[in-house]
Amino acid sequence: MQFFQTGYARDAPSRPMPWTAAACPSGRAAGPPGSETPLTQAFTHQPVMPNQVMAALQPGAAGVYLDATFGRGGHSAMLLHELGADGRLYALDLDPAAVEAGRHRFGGDRRFTVAQGSFAELARWCRHWGVDGRLDGILLDLGVSSPQLDDPARGFSFSQDGPLDMRMDPARDESAADWLERAGETEIARVLREYGEERFARRIARAVVTERKLEPITTTGRFAAIVSRAVPTREPGKHPATRAFQAIRIQVNGELDALDAALAQAVDVLAPGGRLAVISFHSLEDRRVKRFLRDAAGRAPRPARGLPLPEEPEPRLRLIGKAQRADARELESNPRARSAVLRVAERRSA
Ligand SMILES: C[S@@+](CC[C@H](N)C(=O)[O-])C[C@H]1O[C@@H](n2cnc3c(N)ncnc32)[C@H](O)[C@@H]1O
Repeated sequence: MQFFQTGYARDAPSRPMPWTAAACPSGRAAGPPGSETPLTQAFTHQPVMPNQVMAALQPGAAGVYLDATFGRGGHSAMLLHELGADGRLYALDLDPAAVEAGRHRFGGDRRFTVAQGSFAELARWCRHWGVDGRLDGILLDLGVSSPQLDDPARGFSFSQDGPLDMRMDPARDESAADWLERAGETEIARVLREYGEERFARRIARAVVTERKLEPITTTGRFAAIVSRAVPTREPGKHPATRAFQAIRIQVNGELDALDAALAQAVDVLAPGGRLAVISFHSLEDRRVKRFLRDAAGRAPRPARGLPLPEEPEPRLRLIGKAQRADARELESNPRARSAVLRVAERRSA
């Protein structure tokens, strides 16, 4: 477990802040003036749905928060801005580059603590930090960050050639190239179908197995070309390899299992009245989040008439509003917010 504690206090003013798209224009990390650093400027990430996230978490000056997907700290900067001297923000990210950026950006702020770790273990981290059951808010902003997508060396994107890696944590055993080399055709097809909702999963899997016999598939460019040739039709405005890249990334990083684990643990570590905000970027994630929150809020579908009602435990969550999407103004400056869906729930009193 890697762990970095920061230095001295900085008392941030607590005042309403319109975190509009205009306030954090594309290409700059959002945050209070002066918070940008050369490192965050080099690879920036514009936080998604900033106003809605802040409205959901309603950070109080002395609150304790967990940003479980630090990225480049766009949302963290907003939370820190609202916290007073007694507030605390804990942050996790699987990616060591994100953690390094966090140390660099907020390393002088003793209210901030960042660690390299998975949100699949957030309960363990909260126990380690002594905030188990005391959190006033948790944010899960799922998926990949702009710096991960934009750096060809990370292998997440089909738009630039690079090694076919896709690991959020490069110390993890198996890269996307390793997995594509070892997995059987049926397994590849299953992953493409389940995690990419890819209609042509079988064709692509067959093409991968044929091509890798000639030469291992080690670059994003070659994998994208193989998929493009195998897919007979085109979805408007979408690269033919979009679904395949999403599927392999989810597989390599175990993303859906990690999400399930994080959701279950989040309910335990929140204080009564604490809020959980989750931003999903595709329907597989959002369906899981929706189902989990609905069930934990006691909104499970009723059995057919005549059947006995199952004995249900007291609901642990209360849903806050409906699913939200980025507004037109945000989409103008941040097209990556297009598929974002935010869901929010609150921990009920025991
Ligand atoms: C969309 S970005 C978050 C951006 C961030 N909210 C910001 O404003 O800068 C998602 C981040 O989650 C991280 N991540 C993905 N899976 C993770 C996991 N299981 N545990 C912790 N972090 C994870 C990624 O490495 C990435 O940095």
